[in-house]
Amino acid sequence: MGKKVTVVGAGFYGSTTAQRLAEYNLFDTVVLTDIIEGKPEGIALDINQSRPIEGFETRVVGATTGQSGEGYEVIGGSDIVVITAGLPRKPGMSRMDLLEVNARIVRGVAENIARYAPDAVVIVVSNPLDEMTALTQLATGFPHRRVLGQAGMLDTARFTHFVAEALAVPIGSVRTLTLGSHGDTMVPVPSQCTVSGKPLTELLPADKIEELVARTRNGGAEVVALLKTGSAYYAPSAAAARMARAVAADSGAVLPVCAWVDGEYGIAGGYLGVEAEIGAAGVRRVVETKLTEPELAALHEAAEAVRAKQAYVAAL
Ligand code: APR
Repeated sequence: MGKKVTVVGAGFYGSTTAQRLAEYNLFDTVVLTDIIEGKPEGIALDINQSRPIEGFETRVVGATTGQSGEGYEVIGGSDIVVITAGLPRKPGMSRMDLLEVNARIVRGVAENIARYAPDAVVIVVSNPLDEMTALTQLATGFPHRRVLGQAGMLDTARFTHFVAEALAVPIGSVRTLTLGSHGDTMVPVPSQCTVSGKPLTELLPADKIEELVARTRNGGAEVVALLKTGSAYYAPSAAAARMARAVAADSGAVLPVCAWVDGEYGIAGGYLGVEAEIGAAGVRRVVETKLTEPELAALHEAAEAVRAKQAYVAAL
């Protein structure tokens, strides 16, 4: 039996994620849902009509769901559910400005997932990411390892892109790492960054690395400021789809994700951006990497910032 994956929210992020998942030609079915009548059905029909051209057999099923959960039967049996429902940022907004409105949306979606796809691994991408991931775990009641968030893969990809551009080297030669939160307390980790195996710190001066770090931290806002109508979705959907693929293939890939941290790095009980081994059950284990003292201190600071907001969201 092939796998079934659902993408909740058929906006820019959700529709591009559904397209990428379908084009992998790995899943039996990709379900795409939204509360806007006809939008998921229309996008599904459109993607399905690309099947003969792109050459994939996966079928995309679009379905409108109601405010009280009507139509959610369609997600039944999903191995994976990706939550993209929620408002994106407008220029000048921080991800945190979306906290209350997206918390209401994500909580409702999570409760329906718990009811209709109780065995699914849930990948959260709605912002603010770390808080929405924590909220989804609370609202579903799923084990922590089955709820994870997408942020680190995207932040890392942005960092890698900026390094490759700065050094004019192939993207495939660059390895970067970011940990922490998907926001102000993001922790880029230059000590773990390499270009063709050489430490980045030997290839660029500290002030140039700091400039790339700052651009990475501001990576989402830079796109929002240019688009003016919403936030990024090509790189984000690539990251979310790869995470879903690692789960579907039970690959054991070590990816930077938002995962439940319980003792690693000396941090207890919280969702945070870390590297984790991903498999069919979600997070197999959090993988600790060697950090410098300042990097470790920044990671602890990020954990505290996320924890404070998580408590607030839980009480909303
Ligand atoms: N159930 C399903 N879909 C919903 C719900 C809900 N309860 N509430 C809103 N949506 C849908 C909207 O109808 C819209 O089609 O979510 C979609 C969001 O799409 P966009 O506005 O295009 O936003 P997008 O760029 O896709 O970003 C979605 O990802 O990166 C984050 O910050 C971003 O939180 C935002 C999310």
